[in-house]
Amino acid sequence: MKIDHIGIATRQLKEATALWHDALGLEVDSSEEVGEQGVRIAMLPIGETHIELLEPLTPDSPIGKFLDKRGPGIHHIAIRVDDILAALRQMKEKGARLIDETPRVGAGGCLVAFIHPSSTNGVLLELVQPQ
Ligand code: CO
Repeated sequence: MKIDHIGIATRQLKEATALWHDALGLEVDSSEEVGEQGVRIAMLPIGETHIELLEPLTPDSPIGKFLDKRGPGIHHIAIRVDDILAALRQMKEKGARLIDETPRVGAGGCLVAFIHPSSTNGVLLELVQPQ
């Protein structure tokens, strides 16, 4: 397993990518809209992982609500797994509170599922299985 990406909530993707690009020299690998989650994202590779910048499409989307409540900042950590169904089953067996009982299609066509922060030391956890 490894860290697939670290998700950072931003108000404006354009502003945020300019900073991460100009100040740190990271390139934007891909950028897309995930309509189902009400978010526009940009992936910036860094070493073996990525920074995922998130911008809400609407104020009442999950990222919009997060920004409203807590402002910009780290939103989630994503762990890459080989078998997301097995990982979800194991986490459930160990008492973790799942947000997604079944995986859905996320950025880059990956299968993703979120684990509630109340089970993971206050950090929203995303499991990612590349397609
Ligand atoms: Co993510």
